[in-house]
Amino acid sequence: MLNLRNPQLNAHGELTHLLSTEGLPRQTLVHILDTAAQFVSVSDREVKKVPLLRGKSVFNLFFENSTRTRTTFDIAATRLSADVYTLDIARSSTAKGESLLDTIANLAAMAADIFVVRHSESGAPYLIAQHVAPHVHVINAGDGRHAHPTQALLDMYTIRHYKKDFSGLTVAIVGDVLHSRVARSDIHALTTLGAGEVRVVGPRTLAPGDLGPMGVRVCHTLQEGIKDCDVIIMLRLQNERMSGALLPSSHEFFRRYGLTPEKLQLARPDAIVMHPGPINRGVEIDSAVVDGSQSVILPQVTFGIAVRMAVLSIVAGA
Ligand code: NCD
Repeated sequence: MLNLRNPQLNAHGELTHLLSTEGLPRQTLVHILDTAAQFVSVSDREVKKVPLLRGKSVFNLFFENSTRTRTTFDIAATRLSADVYTLDIARSSTAKGESLLDTIANLAAMAADIFVVRHSESGAPYLIAQHVAPHVHVINAGDGRHAHPTQALLDMYTIRHYKKDFSGLTVAIVGDVLHSRVARSDIHALTTLGAGEVRVVGPRTLAPGDLGPMGVRVCHTLQEGIKDCDVIIMLRLQNERMSGALLPSSHEFFRRYGLTPEKLQLARPDAIVMHPGPINRGVEIDSAVVDGSQSVILPQVTFGIAVRMAVLSIVAGA
């Protein structure tokens, strides 16, 4: 039975779906990070497999494009020994007009245990979670501009790996915050984990002042936003979600908000630079920063496998 106050938790307070980092208790977040830490070593073994999800079927349903998230969910489920089915939605019956819930009902009839869902509509994974049988679990792999909880968790894992403790940290999230599900999920996770200060940085059109109630400081210059930061999370301009011109030009955006080696010097000398990908070199971030010694963008991708293994195994109760 679902817990009505938080549809991600069952009546015992255990994680049964992962839909958002909003409202997840601190201990649940820490449990996922600790479990992921155990899985990191599996990826270093010669035989990169554990039998935790043997006999379970994981359906990857990506109704929207993805490279990292889809592939790392695929790898994570495979390393847990699940049977993994990744649907090519563009070629599925959805393209013939089948409703989302009818597609899910048909896949559930093929004995699915876990659905990993990415959808351009905010709330689609919630709708699915409300309609699946109690033994079936739903993981949100990004819905519209709403939430991307596994990205936020791998971001938290990366921050904890390099910085150990959240309490004294200043974290800046820079760029197109308005359209970013990653930013929203990161903010909820960071505040729950007790980060010292969370800043969002961007022009008024992309980092609106009304984000303040989320517990963040809103900055409209990069200089103010990244000054003395420990962690900088850069975001892509999500042009596919913008209606109308919110920016003068990408050239002008780079001039004002692009992270260059010179501007990076405003942050703490040991600051780390993160990005969920896909990166657009020369638009939000200079190539020299992407490839520089403070960049942890590729370790984020690697940690994503262990974090997704943790989430899959925890929701399945394995
Ligand atoms: C992000 C996403 O899809 O929300 N990417 C990702 O999952 N790695 C960010 C983005 O698309 O800019």
